[in-house]
Parts: sequence; structure tokens; C-alpha cells
Amino acid sequence: MDKAQQDALKKAAGIEAAKLIENGMIAGLGTGSTVKFLVDELGRRVQEEGLQFTGVTTSRRTQAQAESYGIKIVDIDDVDHIDVTIDGADEVDKNFNGIKGGGAALLWEKIVATNSDKIVWIVDESKVVDTIGKFPLPVEVIPFGAGHVIKKFEAKGYKPVLRLDAEGKEVRTDENNYVVDLHLEKIEHPFELAEDLINTVGVVEHGLFLNMVDKVIVGDPNGPRVLTNGNK
Ligand code: A5P
Repeated sequence: MDKAQQDALKKAAGIEAAKLIENGMIAGLGTGSTVKFLVDELGRRVQEEGLQFTGVTTSRRTQAQAESYGIKIVDIDDVDHIDVTIDGADEVDKNFNGIKGGGAALLWEKIVATNSDKIVWIVDESKVVDTIGKFPLPVEVIPFGAGHVIKKFEAKGYKPVLRLDAEGKEVRTDENNYVVDLHLEKIEHPFELAEDLINTVGVVEHGLFLNMVDKVIVGDPNGPRVLTNGNK
């Protein structure tokens, strides 16, 4: 699949997901190139159809895009609940275990997700996999002592790589932390791995989102299809 085809599938999933947002809702808005299509469509509905809803965003990038359309964005601590959060994902398997954080927004994404009544992911079909792990697993790490965390990951065979930007500088998250990507290829025991990562001092959060999502809208050449998680 080339990039243009992939973008078309992402856009179709984003437009389909935008239908879930109704007047008066509080909606979590994720981060990434697929969510960008979602926010474009929500912006269109706000401007052309008079849709009114309140958004909580998972990154400053999404906040800026949403506000450019006149969508009302509030701080997560200014709402008592979030009706539904729509976000992208990097990989998802048939047990609804996924990897997120390719765009370095995993920490805010997980905070928004865990405070949402419903979670919906929008992906193109290439992201639905048998076993997660081919996509490098992002881990958000405090800069102080990050070198030691990386050495511990190396000793465990996690194949860590500190994420750098195009100029060779450490990528910083919205909380000013580093991202370390683990090149695991296959994650056979995601719950054990999640436990190990979160118990490593210096790790703030990891990109394993395990059995959290309620529905996945998959952009498919035959039209968007919905996978529903029956085990939540
Ligand atoms: C952001 O940190 C990520 O979790 C994204 O949601 C994920 O990487 C999907 O991004 P794309 O929609 O750009 O593929």
C-alpha cells in the first residue's frame, strides 16, 4: 500500500468516527495523522452544521488544530467525565491489545483514555496484526538517569533506541520527557511486559494499551469496518 492509499483509508476511518460525536458531548481527541482527518471532519461539522461539543486533547498539536476550527477545548481537569475518546494506534491485535505512541503522545493519550467512558481507535488496515511488536514500542522516560534505564532495557534484550529528531536531538514529549523505542519484533506476553516496564524507576508510561479500546474503526478498501471488543 502506498502513502496515498494509506491516507485515503485513514481519512475514511476518521470521517466515519466523526459521526460518533453529537451535540453536547465531551470528546477526547487523540493525536496523529489519522486523528488529523477526524479533527478536519469535526471542524467541518462545527462550521457547516453548527455541531457543538467540548474537546479534551491528547497533545498540544491536536489542541492547536481543533482550536483553529473554533472547537472548544478544555483542560482534562475541567471536566468530570469524557463520553468518548477517538484516537489512532500504531498496531492492534485480535485481543484488542495495541501499541500507541508513534507520535510521542502516549502519556496524555493514556491519561485521557483511562478517564473516558468509551474508547474508539481509527486505523488503516495495515495496523491490524496477529502479534503486536513489529512497530517499536514507545516508552516515555524521565531524562534524569535515562542512560541507566536504557542500559537496563539492553540487558533484558529489549533493544532500546532513544528517539531523536531530524537534527539528532532527543525528541521531547509534551511533558518534556524522552521516548525510548523498544525494537522487540514480537510481543508474546504483553501484560507481563507492561508490568515490567511500569515497575522500572524512571519510566513514566509505556505505549502498551491492553484491552482498553471498545471499538476499532478500520479503514478498508471496501469501506470502513468496525471491530467490537466483547471482552471489556
Ligand atoms: C501518537 O502518539 C500515537 O499514539 C498515534 O495515535 C499513533 O501513532 C497513530 O498515529 P498515525 O495516525 O499518525 O498513524
